Amino acid sequence: MNFQKGKLMKTAVTQLLECEYPVLLSGMTGVSTPELAGAVSNAGGLGLLATADLTLEQTRQAVRRTRRITDRPFGANVPLLIPGAEEKMAVLVEEKVPVVNYTLGSGEQVADVVHRYGGKVVATVTTAKHALSAEKHGADALIVTGHEAAAHGGAVASMVLIPGIVDRVNIPVIAAGGIADGRGLAAALVLGAEGVAMGTRFMNTRESPVHDTMKQLCNQKAVEDTVYSDRIDGLPCRALDSSGARKMMADRLYLFKALANSRFAARAYGFPWIAAMAGILLSGYRRSKQLARMANAFRAVKLAIDDGDQKRGVFLMGQVTGLIDETLTVGQVMEKILIEAASARARLAAGMGQE
Ligand SMILES: Cc1cc2nc3c(=O)[nH]c(=O)nc-3n(C[C@H](O)[C@H](O)[C@H](O)COP(=O)(O)O)c2cc1C
Repeated sequence: MNFQKGKLMKTAVTQLLECEYPVLLSGMTGVSTPELAGAVSNAGGLGLLATADLTLEQTRQAVRRTRRITDRPFGANVPLLIPGAEEKMAVLVEEKVPVVNYTLGSGEQVADVVHRYGGKVVATVTTAKHALSAEKHGADALIVTGHEAAAHGGAVASMVLIPGIVDRVNIPVIAAGGIADGRGLAAALVLGAEGVAMGTRFMNTRESPVHDTMKQLCNQKAVEDTVYSDRIDGLPCRALDSSGARKMMADRLYLFKALANSRFAARAYGFPWIAAMAGILLSGYRRSKQLARMANAFRAVKLAIDDGDQKRGVFLMGQVTGLIDETLTVGQVMEKILIEAASARARLAAGMGQE
């Protein structure tokens, strides 16, 4: 492993995913566009496109656009619990996307079809139980997301979760949640991970499509300024502590609002609303309630990303918001990470009496 700028870093993840540096752009709905994913791959990392709020045709076009932006490997993220996830996965397979990343579901059917065209499968998990199951189902690597993360991090913080899972599986682990700089990269490697995935840090770059207000909030806020609750979108989820997030956490579940918002979400997913509603209602009371919350959150997250609406918007952001105070280009972020990781490595060597 070599942290010097200009030199390649070699880990199991760079070898598996064929990138120069073991640094991935997390798949983030409304954020990880072809432009951002392409920029990360062009800078030597690996960009994961987000597809959750794209129709099937938009997903296909996003993959093709990414290919025009970069000739390097990239990937695409699909949350399996959204309506139409299976069809979306089929589009990624038809387009032979080099790295398929699934989350929020069991990817039993995914590995075989992706491996058939030479693609790689990365499963996102937050517990050892799901890590072992993804490994059993043929995943080539895992993104392990700790408590610090934006959106759906696990109950356990990365410092403990990463080594806990590294000890239990035989495939490479990519650490996510709480990583925004070279110290985080070095720490993740020391904990036994073979790479990192960053969401919040890349969300706040010049190439990122989010509203300037969201980037500025990220530059201003401290590590304590987020909330973690299952009342935002029905799953434990981290967002900036804002009036929009507080309102959603305090709200009773307004079913009429959920009904209207589910229509909005179904349209965005390119999924017939009636079929979505039938599927939701047939899934049982608990899951219906969770999906209803998800429909409400979908709208609020969009208001934050597209309009920077601080009153009603929910700004998904990780605790690392407190470590970030400038909006850089993707290239500058990558360069800074490599320099910082090199100095972390020197500090580690000195502290352990080797220099
Ligand atoms: C605006 C936003 C949208 C997100 N959407 C998704 C998504 O669609 N799929 C997914 O797997 N994770 C999603 N995430 C979570 C990230 O993939 C990742 O796990 C998280 O950002 C890592 O933590 P960090 O922010 O501390 O780097 C999202 C995060 C943000 C900030």
